[in-house]
Amino acid sequence: MNNQNNQAKKSTLSNKAELLKLAGPSTQSVHINGIANPYRSVGEPIVQTATYQFEDVADLCAFQEAQLSGDDHDRIEYGRYGNPTVNAVEKRIAGLENANDALLFSTGMAAITTTLLALLSSGDNIIITDDSYRRTRQFCEIYLKQMGITTTVVPMGDYEAFEAAILPNTRLVISESPTNPYLRTLDLERFVAIAKKHQVKTFIDSTFATPLNIRPLDWGVDLVVHSATKYLGGHNDILAGVVAGGSGTLKELRNALGIFGGISDPHNAALLLRGIKTLGLRVERQNQNGQAISEFLEGQPNVERVWYPGLPSHPDHEIAKQQMSGFGGVVSFTVKGDLESTSRFIDAVKIPLIAASLGAVETLIEPPAIMAYYDLTTEERLAEGISNNLVRLALGIEDAEDIIADLEQALAVV
Ligand SMILES: Cc1ncc(COP(=O)(O)O)c(C=O)c1O
Repeated sequence: MNNQNNQAKKSTLSNKAELLKLAGPSTQSVHINGIANPYRSVGEPIVQTATYQFEDVADLCAFQEAQLSGDDHDRIEYGRYGNPTVNAVEKRIAGLENANDALLFSTGMAAITTTLLALLSSGDNIIITDDSYRRTRQFCEIYLKQMGITTTVVPMGDYEAFEAAILPNTRLVISESPTNPYLRTLDLERFVAIAKKHQVKTFIDSTFATPLNIRPLDWGVDLVVHSATKYLGGHNDILAGVVAGGSGTLKELRNALGIFGGISDPHNAALLLRGIKTLGLRVERQNQNGQAISEFLEGQPNVERVWYPGLPSHPDHEIAKQQMSGFGGVVSFTVKGDLESTSRFIDAVKIPLIAASLGAVETLIEPPAIMAYYDLTTEERLAEGISNNLVRLALGIEDAEDIIADLEQALAVV
C-alpha cells in the first residue's frame, strides 16, 4: 500500500512538473519549486546553515562514492556547494528561461565574471558588443587581458563586423539585449547563426528583457545571464545574479562557483524567490509604463530624442517587435540643452528616485553622465556614446498617469 502511495505521489509530482514546463510564465513564477518541504509550508523554507551532517561514516562514504561517480543526488556537503533555498530559486529561474539548469550568484557581476573565468583560458579571444554594461567591458578589457585573454569590441547591431571579428581563437561572444542605455536589441536568430557557423559560444545578458519578454535559449543562445538584482528580485532590496543554460556547461560553472565562492546566501535566495512570484504582473505593468511614457516623452518640446524599442523611431523596433513579447521598463532620452538643464529637470521630478539600478517597483531616474560615467571627461563620455543631457528612466509599477504628470511639470523647468 505504501509502495502504491509512493508511486501515485511520484506520478502526481512528475505530472505537475510536466504541466509547469508548458505553463505560462506567471504560473511558472509562482509554482515551480525545487525545494523538498517536509513542513508543507506554502512559503518556501529558508535553510539557514553553513554545513550539513552525515548519519555515520557509511553515509559519508555513500555520499563520496555518489560524488565520484557523478550520480545525481540531492545531498550537499557544505554551504558553498549548495543550499536547498538557493536550489529552489535556481529551479524556478531555469523553468522560466526554459533551461536545463540555472546557477545563483551573489551579484550579476559575480555571475558574469565567474562564467568568463571558468570558460576561458589564456590565449583565447572574446568578442563583446560596444553598448554592453560598462563593468562587464571593464572586466574583459582589464582583468581578462591580465590573464592573456584578448577582447574585441564590435558595434552593437553590426553583424558583418561581428562575423569579421571572429578569430580562430575566439571562444565566446558576450552581448546584451536590450542594451543599456540605448536599448539596442539583438536579432538573436542572426547573431546565433553567425556564432554557430564559427563554433563560438553565445552568452547573453538578458537583464533588461527578463524571461517574460524574451527567452534567449529558445533562440539557440548557449548561456543567459541576469542581474537578478533588477527585475527578478524586483524590490530594490537584494543583489543577485543568475546564469541559465545547458546542464553540461552549468555543471562546469557550478564546480567553478564552489571554488570562486561568489554564492548567494539563503535569506537572499528566499527574497528572490518571493520577488519572482510577482514577476509576471510587475513586468506586464513595466512594459505598459515603458510604452506609455516613451510615447509621451517623444511628443515633448523639451525632449530631444527618445530611445525605447517599442517606438517605431527606435533603430531596432522591427526586430524587437518580431522577437520580443514586451519592450521592458527602461526609457532613455536626451533633454534639450546641457548638463545644467538636465540637472534642473532631474531635481524637479517628484516621484522617480535618483538612484542607480532598474527593474524594481520604484521608478528610478539617473543622468548617466553623473552616475556610471562621472569619472570621465565630457569628451571621453561622448566617445562612449554618453552625452551630458542623457537621462535613463527605469520605470517601476506606479500609475503611468502620475509619472507622466510629474515628468511634464519637471520638463517645464528645463
Ligand atoms: C545589464 C546589466 N548586467 C549586469 C549588471 C551587474 O549586476 P549586479 O549589479 O547585480 O552585479 C548590471 C547592473 O547594473 C546590469 O545593468
